[in-house]
Amino acid sequence: MSSPIIVFGSINMDLVVYSDKQPAKGETILGNSFETFQGGKGANQAVAISKLGCPVSLIGKVGDDVFGDELLESLNSEQVDTSLVERHEGPSGVAFIYVFEETSENQIIVISGSNEQVKSNQIPDKELSATDVLISQLEIPPSEIEDLFIRAKKSGIYRILNTAPALKISKNLIHETDLLVMNESELENLTEQTIERQNTDSIGQAIKGLNLSTTQSIAVTLGSKGVYVYANQKGHFIDGHKVEPVDTTGSGDCFIGALASQYLESNDLLDSVNFANKAAALSVMKRGASSSMPTLKEVVNFQ
Ligand code: RIB
Repeated sequence: MSSPIIVFGSINMDLVVYSDKQPAKGETILGNSFETFQGGKGANQAVAISKLGCPVSLIGKVGDDVFGDELLESLNSEQVDTSLVERHEGPSGVAFIYVFEETSENQIIVISGSNEQVKSNQIPDKELSATDVLISQLEIPPSEIEDLFIRAKKSGIYRILNTAPALKISKNLIHETDLLVMNESELENLTEQTIERQNTDSIGQAIKGLNLSTTQSIAVTLGSKGVYVYANQKGHFIDGHKVEPVDTTGSGDCFIGALASQYLESNDLLDSVNFANKAAALSVMKRGASSSMPTLKEVVNFQ
């Protein structure tokens, strides 16, 4: 393997239940349908990159169960390089996803399985130094991400960290990241500050608390409202695109994958965020996570 983008991250089998509404506590309701999809934030981001025509390698672990076989098969069929995805003796990661069709909102519970066993030493130095962009998220051990990001810095690789799900991470991992990407609740978790939702002043104030260096940037996704980007010590607001959402699962992953692939082309963060904003809007119009990632042609022709 030798790809310009490496995703170091999770691979899950998504077990998705669609119902009209969310049941109340203790209530049983009849749902509308059930589907399984290849998911996991890392795998979704890798598929988003591949669908946009960019070679990508995914580093992670699947279990030695039937889900592991299916996940590898599905990633290979999406042209994601899985040569450094290892099999772990035990279960694959699974995500239980509930999509409420009246609002298209979701709730997700992840059981980590083999994702907990992912190690930074799965990537030899030779492969790492040949890459330009490295992406990770918090469904694999943060200490392994930190270790890999420190190694990647030596080769001048652009390091993107998606701080999802909202976990506590070390100050050093934040320091070792070039671009942080998160949603508003993940920003609240990271800064330990309450923010006024979709209020760019409040978001800007919270970001100040992170004491980022002049070379670090952050993109905060605001759902359908758009994205707030803080780069070169300035805040920028990018408007969202109005679409009819069907299933928002994986739209954040689509945003990150598209941002990375465009950044590789243009080396321009705001241009990349604009591109990613379009890709993410397209992704919410289809069901599933990886299965909803758009092609380059779809993004270029959008609005
Ligand atoms: O971001 C969406 C993803 O989160 C799903 O595919 C699920 O597997 C969880 O990791």
